[in-house]
This record gives sequence, structure tokens and C-alpha cells, in this order.
Amino acid sequence: MYGLVNKAVEGFVKEQLGDDGWTQVCAKAGLSDPTFISMDAYDDSVTYNIVGAACEITGLEASAILEGFGRYWMLYTAEEGYGPLLDMTGSTVHEFLDNLNGMHSRIRATFPELRPPDFEVTDETEETLLLHYRTERPGLAPMAVGILYGLAERLGQEITVEHREKKADGADHDIFYIEVIG
Ligand code: HEM
Repeated sequence: MYGLVNKAVEGFVKEQLGDDGWTQVCAKAGLSDPTFISMDAYDDSVTYNIVGAACEITGLEASAILEGFGRYWMLYTAEEGYGPLLDMTGSTVHEFLDNLNGMHSRIRATFPELRPPDFEVTDETEETLLLHYRTERPGLAPMAVGILYGLAERLGQEITVEHREKKADGADHDIFYIEVIG
């Protein structure tokens, strides 16, 4: 994944575990004091190894770490200059999710080797929708959940996310049932 993601993971780990915690995580992940460049593409194993090392050190499940990271991702991207893009993509959760693929496509201008996930909204009502999440990468659904909560917070809305269908349990793809409750 792009360095932007790894830098965000670094920021999240440092926020949670401090600079020493980050050094420990890197050592366990087999990385010595890495300097990530936002616009360089890295092998996915770098990101997975960091998350795996953070699990071993904290004793937390990967899903808990990934969900926390997802929430952090929204703050991080806004700070890294993507705020206007986020604002343009939608002012409500419904509108934003309808435009999410377009948003990832737009950033391809900056990240030519981007392999973004695919999102499809179905069964929309005023308060609810189903979000279909398709990706070539395993295990990142909790990150999507965290990003969704972070997104709602940014937009001043409150949501619940129910993970209805799980690829990890043999479903064709992951499906989230999202309810906007305020
Ligand atoms: C301005 C905001 C955002 C930026 C700049 C951004 C950018 C990126 C980048 C660079 C990647 C790594 C893909 C690669 O390196 O090939 C990624 C992955 C991902 N993005 Fe976004 N993204 C943003 C917002 C969102 C939002 C709102 C969601 C909503 C759920 C989302 C869901 C994901 C997920 C789940 C992945 C993990 C990769 C995968 O599932 O295959 N992103 N994004």
C-alpha cells in the first residue's frame, strides 16, 4: 500500500503506544527505523507486518487495531491536505458513500498504482443502506468499519454499522448495514 497508509499507521501507533512503542513494533515487524514516503508504493506485507507486530505487543485482536486505525485515518487524511477532497465528496454519510469510488478514482492522479477497494450502495432508505465492500486484500473490513465511524463523526452524524455478510466466513464479499441515527 502507499506510504500514506503506512505513515498513518505510524502516527496511530505512536499516538497509542508512544515513540518507544513504535520502535518496538518496528523491531518485531523486522523494520529498522523506517521512513515512509507518502507517494511511494510499498508491498502490502509491510502494512500487515506492522499490524501483526502491534497485535503481539498489545495483545489486542487485529480487528480492534484496524478499527481504531480506520477512525484515525479520517483525521490523518484531513490533516494531510485531503480535507477539501473529503468536503467535496459529500456532506452526509449517504451522499459520501455514493461518491466513494469516484473519490478513490480521483486520487489515482496522485497515486497511479492505487488498488482501491470498491464500494456499492444498495437498498437505500432515508436512514439506512447496505454498503457492499469488495477488495483484493484480506482482513481489512474492520478498517472500513472504523473509517465509516470516523467519517460520520467528521460529518456530524451518528451511525451504527452492522457487519452482515463476512468474506472471512465464506460470503462473496463483505456487506455492512448502516443506520444513520442522528
Ligand atoms: C481523503 C480520504 C481518503 C484517501 C486519501 C484514501 C486513500 C487511500 C489509499 C492511498 C489507500 C491504499 C490503497 C493502495 O495503496 O493501493 C486506501 C485504501 C483503502 N480505503 Fe481509502 N482513502 C480515503 C478515504 C476512504 C474512505 C472514506 C473509506 C471508507 C470506508 C476508505 C476505504 C478504504 C479501505 C477499506 C482501504 C483498504 C484497502 C482495501 O480495502 O483494499 N477510504 N485509501
